[in-house]
Amino acid sequence: METNPPRPALPAHFLFGVSTASYQIEGAATEDGKGQSIWDTFAAEPGRILDGSTGDVACDHYHRWPQDVELMRRLGLDGYRFSIAWPRIQPTGRGVTNQAGLDFYDRLVDALLDAGVKPMATLYHWDLPQALEDDGGWLNRDTALRLGEYAAIMGDLLGDRVTHWCPVNEPNVVTLNGYGEGTLAPGKALTFGALPVAHHVLLAHGLAVQALRAAGVREIGTATNHLPVWPLSESEPDRAAATLMDTLWNRLFADPVLLGQYPEGIGEAMPGPVADDLALISQPLDFYGVNYYNPLGVRAAAEGAPLPFEVDTVPGYPTTDFDWPVVPAAFTDLLVQLKERYPAIPPIIITENGCSYGMGPDEHGEVDDQTRIDYLDSHLRAVAEAVERGVDVRGYYCWSLMDNFEWAHGYTQRFGLVHVDYETLVRTPKRSFDWYAAVIRAHHGAA
Ligand code: NOJ
Repeated sequence: METNPPRPALPAHFLFGVSTASYQIEGAATEDGKGQSIWDTFAAEPGRILDGSTGDVACDHYHRWPQDVELMRRLGLDGYRFSIAWPRIQPTGRGVTNQAGLDFYDRLVDALLDAGVKPMATLYHWDLPQALEDDGGWLNRDTALRLGEYAAIMGDLLGDRVTHWCPVNEPNVVTLNGYGEGTLAPGKALTFGALPVAHHVLLAHGLAVQALRAAGVREIGTATNHLPVWPLSESEPDRAAATLMDTLWNRLFADPVLLGQYPEGIGEAMPGPVADDLALISQPLDFYGVNYYNPLGVRAAAEGAPLPFEVDTVPGYPTTDFDWPVVPAAFTDLLVQLKERYPAIPPIIITENGCSYGMGPDEHGEVDDQTRIDYLDSHLRAVAEAVERGVDVRGYYCWSLMDNFEWAHGYTQRFGLVHVDYETLVRTPKRSFDWYAAVIRAHHGAA
């Protein structure tokens, strides 16, 4: 098969991986002692999820994981990024652990290692134990302390075998979509009242780094979502709106971790001993994880609107089924700009990149997703281009191994290299699966 190896070439020890998250794939929402999470609650509320679905079954990975690890072996992956469902480990988010939950991840990690795949664990990919939300969730500083405790438990259990760790997936999405806008769990629309959430989630990151280091873990990083923000016109108000959005979406989360400070004017709005917290938040990391999908268009909002900016699709580019513009050059620019903005940034790993295209099996049972191949190929080239321009990028994890529960969009958006039939739960590798396997083989010189 044609592989079109990315040019210029990626570094020899580059890690090729795929990513998933617990609530999006596992199902088994009430099995084996798992506690309720805010996503179980949110998805059950009428009107929250576009197709009225939930993650109760999802891809049933909780039962079918051996099959899924086999798919990873076939891909020839170097790494697999998955998340641990906190309520499987601590059903109420504190105290006593649930042995069946610990066993599940213990077995999964051993199977991955057996398949030659390095595990990368995300501790928090949005499924907060509901009991913690009942006590204020991320508005409550105590939640950060609880995540630190949970990190210590997981570090002790898996620190000898899980090579890479991401404490929190996309702190900005947790804050701005979960508590600011309310489109994701727990569905609170507090607008700027959500700012303390940012601080507590960042503090949780810092406490988890500390706990994981104490457990002797080696590679600790982030999974930070970055949206390059583009003003939708050259007008002064649109440019100012874009700068504000860039501060809120990107810098509010990257500056504390990479510079040990909040962007100007924001630190004062944060609760607690902020200076001490920032020292924890900015502890040295082994890698900086970047989740990139697309740039975002921003214009100034009309006077009197609840927020000073409006977001829109950047015009003039092809779009995925999610209506997200496909702009690989923005990916290169982002990586180069991260290096410029944060000269001391640790090596970067792309912890997520991918696209939603809905095609399913044809009459021969084949899924021809050439558009996904084109997206992934152009984005891998964009990464290689950034490497050539001096950015130290060490890996690329494609979102996602298989189609899964896409949060508020339910099962309507398909990001997988593997198609999932949600009636039968049958997995069908798409053409992009074979393409990615060939890219990996070619890279490691085993074509
Ligand atoms: C980022 C999130 O981490 C992941 O859960 C989500 O499915 C993808 N983006 C696609 O929206």
